[in-house]
Amino acid sequence: MAKLNFGGVEENVITREEFPLAKAKETLKDETIAVLGYGVQGPGQSLNLRDNGFKVIVGQRKGSKSWDKAVEDGWVPGENLFELEEAAERGTMLQYLLSDAGQIAQWEMVKKHLTPGKALYFSHGFGVTYADQTGIVPPKDVDVILVAPKGSGTSLRRLFVEGKGLNSSYAIFQDATGRAFDRVVSLGIGVGSGYLFETTFKNEVYSDLTGERGILMGALAGLFEAQYNVLRKNGHSPSEAFNETVEELTQSLMPLVAENGMDWMYANTSTTAQRGALDWRHKFRDAATPVFEELYNSVSTGNEAAIVIESNRQGNYREKLNEELSEIKNSELWQAGQQVRKLRPENN
Ligand SMILES: NC(=O)c1ccc[n+]([C@@H]2O[C@H](COP(=O)([O-])OP(=O)(O)OC[C@H]3O[C@@H](n4cnc5c(N)ncnc54)[C@H](OP(=O)(O)O)[C@@H]3O)[C@@H](O)[C@H]2O)c1
Repeated sequence: MAKLNFGGVEENVITREEFPLAKAKETLKDETIAVLGYGVQGPGQSLNLRDNGFKVIVGQRKGSKSWDKAVEDGWVPGENLFELEEAAERGTMLQYLLSDAGQIAQWEMVKKHLTPGKALYFSHGFGVTYADQTGIVPPKDVDVILVAPKGSGTSLRRLFVEGKGLNSSYAIFQDATGRAFDRVVSLGIGVGSGYLFETTFKNEVYSDLTGERGILMGALAGLFEAQYNVLRKNGHSPSEAFNETVEELTQSLMPLVAENGMDWMYANTSTTAQRGALDWRHKFRDAATPVFEELYNSVSTGNEAAIVIESNRQGNYREKLNEELSEIKNSELWQAGQQVRKLRPENN
């Protein structure tokens, strides 16, 4: 294991140098990996495993677009593409990549095929961590492992094809065979991870739910709205408010942060911008901290899981989602965005 040092805090990570693909293939040479679900992660992980030379089959319910997509991607019905249950029966390692709601719905069927010595693999800690709400309690005699790529399944595949990789976290919830570590790391390398860092099922789901409700999606949208509205209320035009809120961030500043960090982005702005940002940073952090505390608490008490499970249960989930998304789309802020994007030089 390689050690990374983050300003004094040490962390163990696993890279492809220490655990090469050849070792991963040797470890799993007698395994049949069944990827259950062909949504977003399913295609990325199964195609990367297949191209890396592992024995992989896909399980997907028939008669849906995902089945057709699997066929288009080269999976052959009856050979390496099966109904969910048949794949669960044939696989020795089951990669449970249905949506979180789908995992709850199919659990009794999958459980039946988790015979001793098999491995149950997740890419999210949700089902197991919130077992009191999901009912997902794996049998004691199977390995229960996790690899969570830090990005979309689409990026996982795209980067793999380009010869690159996404970093992933890995975790072991249950080591029944004594081989859980080698099995999980082999799959992590096989699905095309860059480096692997250790976590637990609980930490993976708590950080993931906090992140997407927070900075990555929820907080970001909320902060955009707050600043845009204040600028508009004070007489600024939609163009001015949008450019100062979203366009400059996504087009100019975030790529600099991605390249070299926040200090480097600050260093490449005007002295006026630097002074103000350095001062106001503290105020925004202090104002946001109680909201993040409330959010983390809602995640760790299982409240967020209960909301998700309940809303997924509603028959009109998709309709309601589309309503809420079109409310965002039709707001002045995002209508302004549409116009601004059209006027980008590359779109003219
Ligand atoms: N999205 C990502 O990039 C991402 C990133 C990291 C981790 N993860 C984790 O990876 C796992 C898979 O996520 P995903 O985004 O790939 O899921 P998704 O796209 O929502 O997956 C949908 C899959 O689940 C199947 N499914 C849904 N409900 C079902 C049911 N009741 N019965 C049978 N099949 C059902 C779908 O089949 P049909 O098409 O037939 O409905 C499809 O194969 C989740 O645990 C997620 O948290 C996802």
